[in-house]
Amino acid sequence: MFSFQLLSALASAALLAAAAPPPRASACSTTSAVMDLPANQTQLVNPGANPLYVGIGVGVQNYTCSASTLKYTSTGAVASLFDISCLDATPAFTNVQTAAFNAWNALPAGASPNSIGARVGAPSLLGYHYFIPSPSGTGISPKWDFTSTGANAGNANAFVVGTKVGDLTDATNTAVNVDWLALNNLEGSLASKVFRIDTVNGQPPSSCVAGSADISVKYTAKYFLY
Ligand SMILES: *[C@@H]1O[C@H](CO)[C@@H](O)[C@H](O)[C@H]1NC(C)=O
Ligand SMILES: *[C@@H]1O[C@H](CO)[C@@H](O)[C@H](O)[C@H]1NC(C)=O
Repeated sequence: MFSFQLLSALASAALLAAAAPPPRASACSTTSAVMDLPANQTQLVNPGANPLYVGIGVGVQNYTCSASTLKYTSTGAVASLFDISCLDATPAFTNVQTAAFNAWNALPAGASPNSIGARVGAPSLLGYHYFIPSPSGTGISPKWDFTSTGANAGNANAFVVGTKVGDLTDATNTAVNVDWLALNNLEGSLASKVFRIDTVNGQPPSSCVAGSADISVKYTAKYFLY
């Protein structure tokens, strides 16, 4: 009896897993989408494979004022990711994060970033990036969720929750641009590694006054998913 129930549970788990296909890759080939990483550092290591997805993230980094340090601390982020795989062989690819930031920064606070992709030649929405309570039970974890948009709409497997394994300050302007990051897969089958590079803006002011309201700072970045 017990083993029959176990077997049928295993069989239905296998059926469920089989029912949800693996996530679909980018619209265009990513063979020429290579991360341009700084030399002489070990925080971000190029996986040496073609990325599954290359996206431009457009959104906000959120912060709260710590009463003890009078510094802003991160409370997560929310962004829309647009597919830039079809730009990767064009000159627009290199600086798409700047073009996207300029368009995004011109919109009033509270506006949706969802119109920005089309303005920079990347109209296709891959999905959303936001934070969830960490699976470890402590703190929050970043998630890239493609389950409701584009080629992966309706595919419950099309997400990845990441854990940070590398962190590099932005070489051009540490105080303004958020760090470049490497993350490994904690959950989900969208990708095994996520990189955030070519960041524009997103850093908070260097200090805050006790009792300051929470803030959202606009940013853009390229995301490479492997
Ligand atoms: C990397 O390190 C090597 C050896 O120290 C040095 O010769 C080279 O100039 C460095 N490259 C950069 C881009 O800093
Ligand atoms: C970040 O702030 C925006 C408003 O600017 C809000 O919509 C979003 O839910 C916040 N996300 C997190 C993780 O705090």
